[in-house]
Amino acid sequence: MKNKILVTGGAGYIGSHTCIALHEAGYDIVVYDNLSNSSREAINRVSTLIGQSIEFIKGDTRDAEMLKQIFVAHQFFAVIHFAGLKAVGESVAKPLLYYNNNVSGSITLLEVMAEYNVKNLIFSSSATVYGDPETLPIDENSKRSCTNPYGQSKLAVEHILEDLSVSDQSWNLISLRYFNPVGSHPSGQIGEDPNDIPNNLMPYISQVAVGKLEKLSIFGNDYPTVDGTGVRDFIHVTDLAQGHVSALNYLEQQASSKSSSDTTSSVGFLPINLGTGKGTSVLELVSTFAKVSKQPIPYQFVARRAGDVASCYASADKAKALLGWQAKLSITDMCQDTWHWQSMNPNGYNET
Ligand code: NAD
Ligand code: UFG
Repeated sequence: MKNKILVTGGAGYIGSHTCIALHEAGYDIVVYDNLSNSSREAINRVSTLIGQSIEFIKGDTRDAEMLKQIFVAHQFFAVIHFAGLKAVGESVAKPLLYYNNNVSGSITLLEVMAEYNVKNLIFSSSATVYGDPETLPIDENSKRSCTNPYGQSKLAVEHILEDLSVSDQSWNLISLRYFNPVGSHPSGQIGEDPNDIPNNLMPYISQVAVGKLEKLSIFGNDYPTVDGTGVRDFIHVTDLAQGHVSALNYLEQQASSKSSSDTTSSVGFLPINLGTGKGTSVLELVSTFAKVSKQPIPYQFVARRAGDVASCYASADKAKALLGWQAKLSITDMCQDTWHWQSMNPNGYNET
């Protein structure tokens, strides 16, 4: 058995897919999630898919006492920290909730990690930290700026991680900046299950295709892009999950290449983009989804959405060079797997 990993937010969309990838790579995992935006059913299904039950603890990252009990009970090599709230609009309406959950939750987790001398962390950051990019593709040295509390909370945690790595060089802190995760596990058993009406494009399209929503509103057709609609770097969630395994392997290599007397780190704070490096427009995604699902996707053009940028896609070179990771799956795969999940689970994890 390989190292043991604590996965915060492991019941959520990206976390549940990553649990499978970690298990397949031989890691022993413990999932910690308060289920504020996920369901126990996701964990049950992951357990069925991997053929063994996952160790799941319901708890909050702001609960230091509960975290301490877990660190006493388990010897972790690293923490993968997905737990966080992620709805941009909600963050504007409830900034204190977002700073408390995402920033205070991360600080509490880091304090407990420090106390138990677990100093390897993989943090879920976002391309949102780049704001409106000055140049494309976006590399990790691009200027960071955010316009909403959700993005600010991700940026704040990145700053905390940077400061921490300066203060104590034994920390190994990888910040994975995800571009636009979409798709589902090919089994169709787990996937993205948004509460209420989806804010994001792919779940909206798939709910139109399955007949739950009437038509898609496309926010703007006058952007300086290939067809006037927004361009994003969509990445299949199973590729993204694999990126976490590669990041973990990297931390292990660094740990094993250090001599036992060397307490300084060679990783420090390391931001890495996880994207495909390719941009796809909203209209291109809609037409691929319609083709794959063989369902009509009615749409209308409406005004631009406040805060949206025209184009956003990654330079994925650093992930390839350092982690040996690159995305493999296509836009067609992303649409096919999303449709598989959506058509098998029209109401998500909720059976009714
Ligand atoms: P998700 O909401 O499906 O998963 C997050 C999980 O964290 C949920 O299961 C939720 O219940 C849990 N959680 C939230 N706050 C918690 C807390 N205080 N304590 C314990 N558990 C808590 O979201 P996701 O799409 O899987 O995203 C995972 C991470 O990746 C998040 O940090 C998100 O901000 C980040 N991210 C997501 C995207 C995206 O488009 N999905 C893009 C960039 C970054
Ligand atoms: N869009 C529509 N109609 C919709 C939803 C989206 O036209 O109903 C368009 C948007 O205008 C944008 C594109 O589809 O051009 C993608 O929008 P999403 O909401 O799916 O994704 P964003 O790029 O706006 O943001 C997402 C997450 C952020 C994250 C960011 C980068 O919501 O939290 O990706 O990772 F920070």
